[in-house]
Amino acid sequence: MAIPALSDIAPGSIHDIRPKVESQDLRKHIVDSLSSEHPSLPSLLLWDDKGQHLFDQFCRSPTYYPFHNELQVFRDKAEEITAQIPSGSTLIELGAGCAHKTAVILSTLHRQQKTIHYFAVDVSEKQLAMTVDGLLIMMAGSESISISGLHGTYEDLVPYLTGQGVQADQLSRRPITFLWMGNSITNFDDPSEAAALLADIRMACSQTLGECKAIVSVDICQDANYVADAYNVQIPSLSTFLNNSMAHANRILGVNVFQANEWGLEMVPCVSGMGIDMFYVARQGVCLDLSDNVVIRFRKGCRVHIITSGKWPGSVLGHVAERAGFRIEQGWMCKRGAYGQPYLGVFCFVANSSKGGHAFLCAEAPVDRKKA
Ligand SMILES: C[S@@+](CC[C@H](N)C(=O)[O-])C[C@H]1O[C@@H](n2cnc3c(N)ncnc32)[C@H](O)[C@@H]1O
Repeated sequence: MAIPALSDIAPGSIHDIRPKVESQDLRKHIVDSLSSEHPSLPSLLLWDDKGQHLFDQFCRSPTYYPFHNELQVFRDKAEEITAQIPSGSTLIELGAGCAHKTAVILSTLHRQQKTIHYFAVDVSEKQLAMTVDGLLIMMAGSESISISGLHGTYEDLVPYLTGQGVQADQLSRRPITFLWMGNSITNFDDPSEAAALLADIRMACSQTLGECKAIVSVDICQDANYVADAYNVQIPSLSTFLNNSMAHANRILGVNVFQANEWGLEMVPCVSGMGIDMFYVARQGVCLDLSDNVVIRFRKGCRVHIITSGKWPGSVLGHVAERAGFRIEQGWMCKRGAYGQPYLGVFCFVANSSKGGHAFLCAEAPVDRKKA
């Protein structure tokens, strides 16, 4: 069956953008990550159906400022932010999750009577179906807002857009705006990986003659105490969310190698000083028999990395935008504290038409997190 272009995907439907031959063998990825010098688990393991629900519960904890502050920015600045999305746009959200902020954006675009085709992208199939259904119900009265889903990873999106997704739009001049919310852009191990993905996305869209933008939420909080309170691993909803990744790993491996009682949790400031890392920590000597003759031993106190949550200063965000071939056109900040420090920012990136080729990015050294 032919792969449909974005403009051919029926409103209300979900299109599978994953490659026909699985490019990511999650089992192999788990084994490789655990066996590496700095052991880790793939962060994708956090996002099964249960993980989505648990993350949504954690978001509601009063100290988890990124969620509350970001929602506040979208509510307060909805008119200004949506002014960046012209009528006739394709709107693609990376990692839509429960789409709480999307609801604010789409209802504002509807009030403005703009014609928009919105696509939620997510790796989690069940969550994506629930999100698309929920938005369809919410926007039922709107004739101008269409809603569809794309099932797959960020990495699957790039070949889909390049290969077929925007080909039909080549001469359409239809603007494309990407939404990347929830500070997800900082979940990569290094900001240069986020820049590379954004560059690939921008390049994929360069086939169309329309403008390419990205609206990106970034946690820019540099207040270590505030961050420590938000990610305190004693918060039950946070520890339950993080521990669910072990259960997911067990399911993929087909063996119950991870026993939750053998592992504690630790939140540690990143070596770069630009965020926090979450780890499992062995409470005792642990032996993981992954079968196929792979046995990995962890001494007491050894760590397994779960996920990074970056807290990027403005300079790093500027680097990332520039390396991806965008310029930051506008930003909206949520400020807190006695001195009004910025805690959360929503930024509008506009593609620089002068940044032509991908070689531009490949030729550059990765961002040095310590110097940035
Ligand atoms: C931190 S949540 C953010 C959800 C939502 N955007 C928000 O702001 O509340 C991350 C979301 O991205 C999805 N996700 C994580 N990694 C992904 C990837 N590599 N490709 C596609 N979706 C991904 C997860 O399933 C989850 O729904």
